Amino acid sequence: MRSLRSGLLTSLLAGVVAAGSLLAAAPASHAADSPLRDLAEAKGKVMGTAVTGSKLTGTYGEIAGREFNWLTPGNAMKWGSVEPSRGSYNWAEADQIVDFAEAHDQQVRGHTLLWHQQNPGWLTNGNWTRDQLSAIVRDHIATEVGRYKGRLAAWDVVNEPFNEDGTYRPTLFHDTLGQDYIAQALTWARAADPGAKLYINDYNVEGVNAKSTALYNLVKSLKERGVPIDGVGLQAHLIVGQVPSTMQQNIQRFADLGVDVAITELDIRMQLPATQAKLTQQAADYKAVMNACVAVARCTGVTVWGFTDSDSWIPDTFPGQGAATPYDENYRPKPAYHAIAQALGGTTTTPPTGACSATYSVTSQWSTGYTGQVRIACSGASLSSWKANWTFGAGQRITQAWNASCTQSGAAVSCANASYNGSVPDGGSVTFGFNGSWSGSNPVPVVTLG
Ligand code: G3I
Repeated sequence: MRSLRSGLLTSLLAGVVAAGSLLAAAPASHAADSPLRDLAEAKGKVMGTAVTGSKLTGTYGEIAGREFNWLTPGNAMKWGSVEPSRGSYNWAEADQIVDFAEAHDQQVRGHTLLWHQQNPGWLTNGNWTRDQLSAIVRDHIATEVGRYKGRLAAWDVVNEPFNEDGTYRPTLFHDTLGQDYIAQALTWARAADPGAKLYINDYNVEGVNAKSTALYNLVKSLKERGVPIDGVGLQAHLIVGQVPSTMQQNIQRFADLGVDVAITELDIRMQLPATQAKLTQQAADYKAVMNACVAVARCTGVTVWGFTDSDSWIPDTFPGQGAATPYDENYRPKPAYHAIAQALGGTTTTPPTGACSATYSVTSQWSTGYTGQVRIACSGASLSSWKANWTFGAGQRITQAWNASCTQSGAAVSCANASYNGSVPDGGSVTFGFNGSWSGSNPVPVVTLG
């Protein structure tokens, strides 16, 4: 069987009709010389990441602890997480993250007290009077902020209060309490923990536009009224190639109001599959955001919304898009990681030279099917076993493979070496092949080695 399939592959290779190849360095867990958190600290900035509490072990925990000095719970502190039933609290994941942060000399950004999403059903379904809801909100803030008093550096007190045109978003809080719910929430949060910096956080407010101007005007008026407001969070859920050109100017105008600015949820998504060209553009985009923050003294730092593509909200929310974070799904630093390091003054910005890489090619294609191959080559490194992983971007399916054992789950494919070809010496290579089905388009995915 093996020789028959090899023969088939050889004959197909003779008639190559389409080929694309991408390199993926592996194993390349070594990143910049200094962790991002040290580089950031030397610049007077912080480097943060959103985290999922249950994942803070193994490689995920090592990277979160090593590279970042700020953590934001991605979901654990939201109202729906902490008080799923009225008066019945679940602090387990939030506590776990705060404990982890303290053990790793990290600060924590509380996220978030008042938002129109991820609220418990009892809250959103209640038909509250203004006085009832006001008391509920006050108690919520007093309870949650009070629980972590002295342990959190900052709170996103109000999240996403504006529409795109700069009008107030109609929410339970806005519609029942009036637009001064924001001032009330800030005042209650200050009372519960006078040491925590209090922020309003929103998206699509990175550049100068109607929404960021509304936020600007709100902060200006809160300051004038003496309402406690310490900073604004610019979420920065961006798209490759679309960093707003007015970002630094926008950060500066908030700083000039006398508040801090934090980039709170940075990710830069792309249409999958990721290509080297898109990853290179993404790296430039990450660097542009970092540079904008570094350039303004009151920009406290940057938090990425998940540091690995395996822990990102993007694929669930924007089908077909992803690869938005600085590390790939196998925890390998992407060009974006090196761009962040470089913007923070790091010197090691290229992956180590000794590496094994995987190259994916379409060797033959017809109306519904195709034959592909992956070549794994090592230079300055070697492998004793391998696994080649990729995610199809257009619904392709593997139907048959040779010289590897392949499994596919959804769009994710993982191919492990056969018993006879796990070893790839320095300077050597191994190739395996497969047949697949496709329709519409058959883009070449990025292959990573694990
Ligand atoms: O925990 C449940 C799990 O039990 C269940 O099996 C699973 C099935 O879908 O859902 C899980 O909950 C999901 C939760 O994330 C935890 O993974 C929710 O469905 C999902 O909606 C939720 O998404 C979060 C999203 O906020 C909600 O809008 C993302 O993880 C989180 O990253 C995202 O973060 C927000 C910021 O808080 C505010 N700014 C925008 C940003 C992106 O939407």
